[in-house]
Amino acid sequence: MTTKILTPKAEIHCHLEGSIPPALARELAERNGIALPSNLFDGNGHYAWKDFLSFLDSYDRVCTALKTPRDFSDVIYSYLATAAREGATYVEMFCSPERPAKLGISYADWLAALASGIDRAGREFGIVGRIIIICIRHLGPERALAMAKVMVAEPHPYVVGFGMGGDEARFAPIDFAPAYRLVHEKGYGCTAHAGEVVGPESVWAAIRDLPVTRIGHGVRSAEDPALMAELARRGIVLEVCPGSNVALGLYADRAAHPLHRLIDAGVPVTLNSDDPPFFHTSLGLEYEMAGLGEQELRVIARRTIEASFVDADTKRKLLKEMVA
Ligand code: ADE
Ligand code: ZN
Repeated sequence: MTTKILTPKAEIHCHLEGSIPPALARELAERNGIALPSNLFDGNGHYAWKDFLSFLDSYDRVCTALKTPRDFSDVIYSYLATAAREGATYVEMFCSPERPAKLGISYADWLAALASGIDRAGREFGIVGRIIIICIRHLGPERALAMAKVMVAEPHPYVVGFGMGGDEARFAPIDFAPAYRLVHEKGYGCTAHAGEVVGPESVWAAIRDLPVTRIGHGVRSAEDPALMAELARRGIVLEVCPGSNVALGLYADRAAHPLHRLIDAGVPVTLNSDDPPFFHTSLGLEYEMAGLGEQELRVIARRTIEASFVDADTKRKLLKEMVA
């Protein structure tokens, strides 16, 4: 039997609940005695949605399967195990405290559950997992600030950064500047979704008004050469998720995706899966389908670690292992 040598990989843009495969959603719902919403799945058992906003709704419906701290632990463990089997050595998960708060699970208990899933995956697969606390843009700046306050008041060694997802068309980055300022002053790395469903102006605003070193997606920057030059000059890393972008209809297919244009313009890019089962993708598939050679993929994997918000010692160790 031959063993396939996998290209080393790392990921810094994957949403916790967005990583739940339909089978796991069903398993969790059954375990919790919950009937999943009837419109959650299509006729093929895949998640049903038709555009960006209905995808966000569908995402919220999947969250109804989660009830206990153990569920959150199992979800992060399950994703890290899957990513490790595809060759990932490091994954940063976007985790929103909104759902556990609604369930009456304290922030500390929720983090302890996530940490136990991360530790289990680490023991079994050697993968390193970390958490980015993510606020949800359409829920507004007050909720984001409240979340940031909890994050800085209750630090956890696995929480390494702060981000923002949700409906990019709502509010403006500057509205969230107080939340970002608070976490940034405490030394946390920051990222924000921008330039996904809204054009380059959304990325300009995020890099002007928020202390971000990374942008989630940011692919619409390819529509503005001056913006690509600015991202390259400042070394702002894009968390590119081509499969997600194509599935959400931003581009007709992978050939039309601007990944290569961004690379040619010197923009530092990484490859990520976003919400893999929703978009019928995975980290491994993203690497496979990127249209890049082995050497370029290795550069991207290293860049992903470099752009991650993990502590310096762990970063050094991960980079060293990638060379070996
Ligand atoms: N939440 C989960 N996936 C997202 C995406 N692709 N864009 C914005 N918010 C999200
Ligand atoms: Zn995302």
